[in-house]
Amino acid sequence: MNILIIGSGGREHAFAMQISKSKLCTELFILPGNAGTASLGKNIPIDPTNFPIIGKFCLDNTIELIVVGPEDPLVKGMRNFFMADNQLKRIAFVGPDETGAQMEGSKDWSKTFMQKYGIPTAAYKTFTKENLKDGISYLENHSLPIVLKADGLAAGKGVLICETKEQAIKELQLMIQEQKFGSASDKVVVEEFLKGIELSVFVLTDGKNYLVLPSAKDYKRIGEGDTGLNTGGMGAISPVPFADEAFLNKVEERIIKPTIAGLQAEGINYIGFIFIGLMNDKGEPNVIEYNSRMGDPETEVVLPRIKNDFAEMMLAAATGKLNEIKLDIDPRTATTIMLVSQGYPEAYEKGKKMEGLELASDSILFHAGTKFNEQGDLVSNGGRVLAVTSLGNSIEEALAISKKNAALIQFENKYYRTDIGYEFMG
Ligand code: AMP
Ligand code: GLY
Repeated sequence: MNILIIGSGGREHAFAMQISKSKLCTELFILPGNAGTASLGKNIPIDPTNFPIIGKFCLDNTIELIVVGPEDPLVKGMRNFFMADNQLKRIAFVGPDETGAQMEGSKDWSKTFMQKYGIPTAAYKTFTKENLKDGISYLENHSLPIVLKADGLAAGKGVLICETKEQAIKELQLMIQEQKFGSASDKVVVEEFLKGIELSVFVLTDGKNYLVLPSAKDYKRIGEGDTGLNTGGMGAISPVPFADEAFLNKVEERIIKPTIAGLQAEGINYIGFIFIGLMNDKGEPNVIEYNSRMGDPETEVVLPRIKNDFAEMMLAAATGKLNEIKLDIDPRTATTIMLVSQGYPEAYEKGKKMEGLELASDSILFHAGTKFNEQGDLVSNGGRVLAVTSLGNSIEEALAISKKNAALIQFENKYYRTDIGYEFMG
């Protein structure tokens, strides 16, 4: 069958690598894709939220399966668009509809959902300009630190952790009155600070059956030892040493099952990935957030450990047959180091020529922000440029391979963290 992947990052390169190996895959298209996906299928330069043009492309190219990577097209209703069309609705589609994508698209929606279904999460209250005054008095009586979250999508920047009440009040006003994050912060969720250590759990569901994919931990800060600004993710490991069977059982019973049951009770036929951001507080899991997609760079360590035919898994999810799939997971540890452009997550330069990728043959390279320039050279094309993934019998072993190869790959102003997984190493 002809398969279409939506997106252009390392996550989508990892999807493409897995799907291109499938016995089900005839032709693979990535929309818009990057220089890495170009070697596995055909890149299609169309805007991932231009649904009418994508629909036409799918019919012209007899696409039979679509896998959506990023949240934006989902939150904007890509599934709804396809399901409302007599021809397009026949295409198997992995990704929730607009309502399901509210899990990520609205923090207020997802907090209300968690509260309604008894899913453990931080206590919260939501404020808008109508009750801003109440919000300020709420903050005056709140314990520290205070977490403020823009309700809508804010490109990963909408969460503020305030150390003082004065700062929290000022930020709440900026978010609501000055639209600090545009209309995304017309509504603000104020929540308790959760202590503990984070991890990401990924669930694939067909609406009733589900599979729990390998867990992962991502390293969001730009600097060694988790210091400096937040980024999209500087590296990841899978599995996560503390996410043992006992902990994951709690996650399944207290969080995954009520989440799937809650979605059904709400009448949401959720088909796709649910990314559960968790805090482990001394063995007790609490949900920080849901996302309606896989994580990036977590995908770059989770997918290389999945030995199943990935297109078959995607098709089973889209057609209500996930109960027929038994996961086959590589027991080894995967680590990934993200090579980024110096200056990221703030201003950085693109278009730097990249060399030495062929020297890194014992790692898997997932392109995140790359392209071929007019001369046909491979160049950097984003803040996050390339994920260097390695497998080993321990974090130390896998990381040593990723580090060796991260050093061999060259581009001007390359920067990366060398301490991914540091808290689990002896
Ligand atoms: P998010 O944009 O929801 O992924 O949040 C960004 C980051 O903020 C999370 O990965 C956590 O590290 C942190 N965070 C969010 N909510 C809380 C909370 N209630 N307590 C502690 N840390 C939080
Ligand atoms: N790595 C975190 C995310 O994808 O949101």
